[in-house]
Amino acid sequence: MNYGIPYMGSKSKIVDKVCRIFPKAENFYDLFGGGFSVSHYMIRNRSKDYKEFHFNEIRAGINELIKDALAGKYSYENFKPEWISRERFNSEKDSNAYIKIIWSFGNNGDSYLFGESIEQYKKPLHNAVVFNEFDDTAKKILGMDKFKEVFSVTDRRLFVRSRIALMNKGSRKGELQQLERLQQLQQLHFYNTSYEKVPLKKDSIVYCDIPYIGTADYGNSFNHRKFYDWASSLGLPVFVSEYRLDDSRFKVVASFEKKSLLSATENRTAKAEKVFANKEAYELLRSRRINAQT
Ligand SMILES: C[S@@+](CC[C@H](N)C(=O)[O-])C[C@H]1O[C@@H](n2cnc3c(N)ncnc32)[C@H](O)[C@@H]1O
Repeated sequence: MNYGIPYMGSKSKIVDKVCRIFPKAENFYDLFGGGFSVSHYMIRNRSKDYKEFHFNEIRAGINELIKDALAGKYSYENFKPEWISRERFNSEKDSNAYIKIIWSFGNNGDSYLFGESIEQYKKPLHNAVVFNEFDDTAKKILGMDKFKEVFSVTDRRLFVRSRIALMNKGSRKGELQQLERLQQLQQLHFYNTSYEKVPLKKDSIVYCDIPYIGTADYGNSFNHRKFYDWASSLGLPVFVSEYRLDDSRFKVVASFEKKSLLSATENRTAKAEKVFANKEAYELLRSRRINAQT
């Protein structure tokens, strides 16, 4: 399944592998939470391993979006997402967090979700999935002129997805809808600040999915050196996702081939995303391994 709101670079493809690494503790901190996929996975699959989950994201608007999703605002009973055109995106992105994040490419909050060449197909498919309304393009692509009434919106999306392997993703709002199921969870705390300002409790695992070196920086230029110093002197286990981390205070503990969909059109490249551990995190994994052997 997919976790979080649709996220640049398709984190949800490897999120399960990354999240299995984290040792148990009282608290789990996702300090660079972005599209919520890591916290989403952790809460769904590892809620017994932690008492509290803490989600932080520096960009404004994301927390509200996730809280709204958790409260059911984006479930299909309450919300039939209308198509947001490129023009509407550009004129409303600065005043509407939903438009800004969900309808931007890679959730970057800046450029429109779809390239011009695929926009013309995405709109008819969106309207087919959400409203069961087919224009000529949708009829041609899907080979039908209506979904049967027994098809839920999720079924329709799955159908469209399987039908259109060449397009990256189907309608995105369903992924927000999944977050709704987490509504009952009480132990999730939100912060909207820079990572070093989040108050951290003892007995915690800290996960940092930092802006990767040399890629899109989400509108703030990230100081990697300062982050490494902070993570090394924190005194808590810190795990960092990165492609490259040239600092001897961190050790690689896992490496995953990840298909990056950074281009909406083509250029799918495979590169290895790694998880690095600071001293405390490394020692914790090592003691866990030793305990498992004895
Ligand atoms: C690689 S993305 C994280 C993706 C996330 N794991 C997900 O599942 O969607 C990095 C995130 O860090 C955020 N960020 C950048 N600088 C930050 C800072 N100083 N403190 C906290 N978050 C920051 C960015 O806005 C971005 O959402």
